[in-house]
Amino acid sequence: MSTRAPDRPLVLAHRGASDEYAEHTLAAYLAALEAGADGLECDVRLTADGHLVCVHDRNLRRTASTRGLVSTMDLADLDQLDFSSWKHPWAELDDERPDQVEEHGRVLTLRKLFEVVADLDRRVEIAVETKHPTRYGGLVERRVAELLRDFGWDRPGGPVRVMSFSYTALQRMERLAPDVQLVQLIEHIPYWPVLRRVVGRDWLLGPGVKLLHESRRLGESITRAGHDMHVWTVNTPDDLRVCQELGVRAVITDRPAYLLDLLEQQAGADG
Ligand code: G3P
Ligand code: CA
Repeated sequence: MSTRAPDRPLVLAHRGASDEYAEHTLAAYLAALEAGADGLECDVRLTADGHLVCVHDRNLRRTASTRGLVSTMDLADLDQLDFSSWKHPWAELDDERPDQVEEHGRVLTLRKLFEVVADLDRRVEIAVETKHPTRYGGLVERRVAELLRDFGWDRPGGPVRVMSFSYTALQRMERLAPDVQLVQLIEHIPYWPVLRRVVGRDWLLGPGVKLLHESRRLGESITRAGHDMHVWTVNTPDDLRVCQELGVRAVITDRPAYLLDLLEQQAGADG
């Protein structure tokens, strides 16, 4: 694997290598690691029996093809579901598709994802997004903080940063684990003038790449205010270009292998 040029953005895999693999499955994360991703992004929700699981949507319709809410089910029940087939409904008809490991398509706990990363022989960042609103409110951050402590990752320099669109959730996280890096996500440009007055000085900002396409000035203003950026979801050469022009620290992408390849080509062209 090539070494990273110091000025190139970190490439974080959004829900794993989710362009190709079912999002948030172990298969998607293993593929991202195999591609050499610098980090992994995941959304987390609490089950009814208090486990943090990597699932984006509140309900199970899209990714497990069934009714029900993550928050009202126990982990053991979620573990019966198939979180993979929706992505490749015709997989069984495809003779050339490599065999899938069944467990790699089941619900993934945040603890398991942390274990996978802790076992690696290189540093891999994890961007954990807590989803709000949720019926469990601040319990989500409490559980994330406990898990971070279990891994010793609540200390300065740990590989995890916690992200949220909810400023309140991040304030909570800061109280629970003051040394963990935080990322305030932004989905609308007008939120920035409000947020800039309240976010912590050392917080990162996470605008969607669409916002940066719409308003380069937004990115410049965030940088001028002294915040590094984690930008999502950066999937095309155009997206990457705008991020590089603005000196973004990390790009969060569904296509880690493709982006790493683009960056490698650039490095080759630069000599
Ligand atoms: O990385 C931040 C990004 O994931 C936020 O949007 O909907 O994909 O969680 P969403
Ligand atoms: Ca997310």
